[in-house]
Order: sequence, then structure tokens, then C-alpha cells
Amino acid sequence: MASLNKFSRTLTQEIHNPAAKAMLYGVGLTDEDMNKPQIGIASTGYEGNTCNMHLNGLSVHVKKGIQENGMVGLIFHTIGVSDGMTNGNNGMSFSLPSRDIIADSIEDVVQAQWYDGVIAVVGCDKNMPGAMMAIARLNRPAMLVYGGTIRTGQYKGKKLDIVSAFEALGQKFAGTISDEDYNGVIKNAIPGAGACGGMYTANTMASSMEAMGLTLPNSSSYPATHEGKKAECLAIGAAMKNMLEKNICPRDIMTRKAFENAMTIVMAMGGSTNAVLHYLAIASSAGVEFTLKDIQDISDRTPLIGDLKPSGKYYMEDMLAIGGVPALMKYLLKKGLIHGDCMTITGKTIAENLADVPDLDFEEQKIIHPIESPIKASGHLQVLYGNLASGGAVAKITGKEGEKFEGIAKVCEREEEVIEYLEKGEIKPGHVIVIRNEGPKGGPGMPEMLKPTSAVMGAGLGNSVAMITDGRFSGGTHGFVVGHVTPEAFDGGTIALVKDGDKITIDAVDNKLILHVSDEELAVRRAAWKQIPSEHTRGVLRKYIKNVSSASEGCVTDL
Ligand code: FES
Repeated sequence: MASLNKFSRTLTQEIHNPAAKAMLYGVGLTDEDMNKPQIGIASTGYEGNTCNMHLNGLSVHVKKGIQENGMVGLIFHTIGVSDGMTNGNNGMSFSLPSRDIIADSIEDVVQAQWYDGVIAVVGCDKNMPGAMMAIARLNRPAMLVYGGTIRTGQYKGKKLDIVSAFEALGQKFAGTISDEDYNGVIKNAIPGAGACGGMYTANTMASSMEAMGLTLPNSSSYPATHEGKKAECLAIGAAMKNMLEKNICPRDIMTRKAFENAMTIVMAMGGSTNAVLHYLAIASSAGVEFTLKDIQDISDRTPLIGDLKPSGKYYMEDMLAIGGVPALMKYLLKKGLIHGDCMTITGKTIAENLADVPDLDFEEQKIIHPIESPIKASGHLQVLYGNLASGGAVAKITGKEGEKFEGIAKVCEREEEVIEYLEKGEIKPGHVIVIRNEGPKGGPGMPEMLKPTSAVMGAGLGNSVAMITDGRFSGGTHGFVVGHVTPEAFDGGTIALVKDGDKITIDAVDNKLILHVSDEELAVRRAAWKQIPSEHTRGVLRKYIKNVSSASEGCVTDL
């Protein structure tokens, strides 16, 4: 099979640069290989964390599938920062920027090496949206392979995952866990390879990118260590060959309707707030008009029906037994909640892919609720506006914690102060914890607040306090939380002006975030406000601060 699509480079490259061909002979290609399509395989593998530790191995299977289908597969690497490692420390500032570095690096290699197609092997929160941004920019045949969810850990008969470790810390502060049990939880929470096991950010992005048609069916449902994951990697070659032959490109798949399908799955399954940020950014890369208002519209029409962690009971590994994400998609398609006519990487539409998928069995399985008796009648992600968030904020409210909270501000200038105040017992029921200076520029990098939210939960305050921030929340966060407050404190947003004792209303029914301080008083406070200068004067975070857009625009860096 010769190079088949409009990016075919073989002859042109030779005319302009004979060294390129010479170099390909040097890496082991044969005369016959020279006329084959070249597929870049972007691995985000990395030994240092469980989300990405197995991805280099999966990439080798992907390469095998590519070679078996008459193409040349060439593995290259990009980075994979794990939020399991960065949460609660300064490393978190580098996490969201890594998404854009991943996007840039895949775009860079594929453009520079003129690959006919690209396959990204991804397994953690940022490498999935980063890869999606890259393939949208490149718009040449491309697909994603998800590394798969982790299995649950076990300690004293209880199932554990990464969030258990953070919540154990809160129990330690509250004095409700022994040292032995604390260490038992930490040692057993993470049993091996795979992405964090609840409907946290990685599984949220994996499920929704499958719903977008960018992976083979069931990619998000096979755990990392399941045999099906290897089979998926091997099957990718035939799918790529078909895409090349039909010249199916990402923007044929990443349409406005496909973004709606992706966010519908996020809402139905109780996914992470980070999906809002990422799909705004991916849509921007794909040239698709998709805004916070569109996300709110999807939330309004989509019931929360997935009883999955962090607010629910089940883990992603449980989904496979009930038919996986395809079974859920088929149900949503029947109910008219997703579009069936969107193209996918199989060369078939969503509806065609789902035609032979068995229906969900509501007698047997309890993970997905019937739409007629949902966990919450509308989506758990709500976009709030008000004098505290004139540019918008994103609330994650499943209804279990109520839909309205009125309380008194307890201001934390940084995430670390929450832990300090908790240790001193200064956070009380009725407080709205305001964590500021954690936005895209002020953080910088809009850190996730998993450590404070888990510590609050662990301290038994989950039902009696709320939290708002210009930072983000981990997909593992649950409780009454509002993030992405825009404008951020660094830019002089109202969140910078809040004082201890101010009254705050969070209303997820009328979608309001209100600081009950008069305009006159706010004007006085604003006149006295001074921007805190950033300590980052060079390097990657300096570049990020200079380029990043607001959370309401997806924190993109290439506008
Ligand atoms: Fe990588 Fe959770 S930190 S998937």
C-alpha cells in the first residue's frame, strides 16, 4: 500500500531532502517500506506514575498492528505529568501547562516529520486533551488509544483508590484513623498500572473521547491490565488503514455535534469539572464554536444517571461488565440524548457502531440509573455567574449535598492555608472556604484542590462547608465545590476582594454566585487592591502566564 492521503510525503520528501530517505534506511526501513504510509505513534509513557507506566508497552502493540496492515509505525514520545503526584504541592502548577506542551509537541513532531497519520497512546488527565488538541490542529488521520483504568486496591475488605489516600489524610487530622490503618491505606490504594479508577478526569476524558468517536469502541472500558486492551492496540492498524484509504480526518469527526455527544457523556456519568476546561480548549483547536453556554444547555437537558465515584458508588472497572460506555451510549441514543450520525474512526457513524451493542439491563445492573429515575434530573456541572464570577464559574453539584449554600467566607490566600486552618480547627460548619490566587495566571497553572477537598471530607465537614476557588478541582473531588471562578484573583476579579466573614450565596438552581457586599464597599476594596507579582520570571510558567487565556475560554495558549 502506497502512501494514500494528501499528506503523502514519500516522493516529495526525497526530492527536497534525500537525507531524509537515507536516514529512514538508517533506522531500518526497506525499499518496500519507503512507499508505505508512515504513522507517528505518540506515546505518553513514563515510568514514574501508574497512569502512564504501561503506555510505552501498549505503543509497541500499536506499532505491531500498524506494521501488520502495511504501514510503517514510528514511535515517538511526549510527556505525561501525573496529578496523582502533583496534587497538593508546587508541582501542580506545571500540570495544566503540560496539556499544551503535549499538544504542541505532538503537533511539532508530526508536522516536522510529515507523518501521514498519528496515533496517540494516552492514559492520564492532561495527555488526553493535549493529544486531542494536537490532532484537531493537525487534521490528518488520527486516533487515540486509552491506557485504561486502574483496578481498585483493597485494605481490610474495603475497596480503595487514589482519593482514599487523600481522605485518609483528613481522617488523620481529625484523629479518626490509626497510624497503622493510615499506612495500610497508602500502601494499598494503588495496585498497579492504570488511570485513577473513578469517574475522575482521566476516565471522564476517556469516556467522552470515545463518545466523540476518536477511539475504538470500548477503549474507555477496558482496564489497563485487561486482555482487551492489548487486542484494541493491535486492532488500531486496520482502523488507521481504513482512515487513510477514506481520508477521514479529525475535523470530520470533531464536529459541533460530536462535542455535544462528549459533554453529554460527561454529564450522564457524573464526570470531572476539568472536562469543561478541556472541551472548550479542544473545540478551539478544532475551530468549533463551543462555549460555556453550550455546556450549560447540555447540562440542562442531560440527567445524571451514572452512580460512579467520586460522588457515587462504583468504579470505572465495573463498567465493562455492564457493556461499557457503548451500552450507555446506545441507551442515550435511544433516548434521543446523543447524535447518532457523527463519523468515527471506524469509518462508521456512532449509530452504526452501536447497532449490535446489547442493551443495558436495568434489572441486573445498578451502575446506570434509568433516565426516568435519575440521580439528578439535570447535569451535575453547572455554570454560575454573579458579582463573584462575572466571567463564569463551574460548580460540581450532584444534588446529594443540596443545590444551594449560603455561608460565611473563610479566606485562604493559598491552598496550603486550608490544611493549616483545618489543623487548627478554624474551619467550621457554615463556612464557604474561598481559595484564591490559584487561577491560570495566579496559581500559576490553575492547580487542582484535591488535597483541601479530600481533607475537608476526611475531617467530616463535607456536608457542612462549601468551597469556591479560581483554581480547579480534581475529578476526584466531591462535596459542594465551585471552581474556575473568572476573572481570577491575579487579574483583580472580585474573588480577590472577599474578606473573612462576608456572606456568600452559591445557587446551583438559578446558577448564581453572589458576594453579599455592596458595590460601594467593593469599589473601596478594589481601589486598595494590588496585584501580587508573580515569582515566575523565566521558564515554562512565565511563558504560560503570558499566553494563557481565562478558564472560561479553556486556558488555551495559542490564541
Ligand atoms: Fe493520572 Fe489520575 S493522576 S489518571
